[in-house]
Amino acid sequence: MRVATTVADMREHRRGMPGDVGLVPTMGYLHEGHLSLARAARTANAHVVASIFVNPTQFGPNDDFERYPRDAERDLSLLEREGVDVVFMPSVEEMYAGGASTFVEVTGPVTEVLEGAARPGHLRGVTTVVAKLFQIIEPARAYFGQKDAQQLVVVRKMVRDLRMPVEIAGCPIVREPDGLAMSSRNAYLSTEERQAALSLSKALRRAEELYDAGEHDGERLRAAMRDVLGAEPLARVDYVSVAGPESLQELARIETTALASLAVHIGATRLIDNTVLPG
Ligand code: PAJ
Repeated sequence: MRVATTVADMREHRRGMPGDVGLVPTMGYLHEGHLSLARAARTANAHVVASIFVNPTQFGPNDDFERYPRDAERDLSLLEREGVDVVFMPSVEEMYAGGASTFVEVTGPVTEVLEGAARPGHLRGVTTVVAKLFQIIEPARAYFGQKDAQQLVVVRKMVRDLRMPVEIAGCPIVREPDGLAMSSRNAYLSTEERQAALSLSKALRRAEELYDAGEHDGERLRAAMRDVLGAEPLARVDYVSVAGPESLQELARIETTALASLAVHIGATRLIDNTVLPG
């Protein structure tokens, strides 16, 4: 496995990889969710590139950029075990050299809601860094988790809008045995908070149960999720949503399929999770 820390080195390695490249963009501190993306990339591409870059432009001024967990050595050994060919691990200076001031921003309704509303500038930072990675690595396919459902919708829209020659693959959410969605940010949780964090997946499961039992009213499903979260003293709800899975606009009534999603503060840690209510 090769490690490239500069754009020039990454491009050099890319020239040595004829055939399809699958890209797995990450911010590191890897868990099984990330590794599932690497495995999906491995099966469908001649070569796999993973990136590890804690991207400052997608963090707000009061976000956790400085304290975001990092462990490059462990990440590299995990990726090596998955058969990744090249890891692109640039510095902030390398990615945003010379006070870079060019951004790629998807505008309109899909970025104005959910994470877009709660974290101004976040999605613009994501699309900017993903566009840069695509442009440097030139993957045939790129792998994203359904865990960040809006990110996936927005990246797909960027690729469509800019006619980028890359296929976007969405991969299922990987959970801990008790239901907690895997996240690098779970490392922030105390034992008590770790228990309280189960309220997210519990709320989503409640919505699934009600939906399966015939409840297709959006507001009643949102209220049911808020009730579950309200019973957890350590949980502070940021948003609870039942929206169109592509439009991301809140639904009064689910006609076909919906994305139930939520963002919740557990102590000082903000967690997100979601589930698709199928048609
Ligand atoms: P990061 O949070 O490190 O996640 C990298 C990828 O792993 C994303 O596509 C995310 O959806 C996926 N992922 C995270 N947890 C997952 C889980 N439990 N199950 C399945 N997939 C999971 O998302 C980012 O980084 C950044 O925004 C990035 C796309 C790298 C741009 O900076």
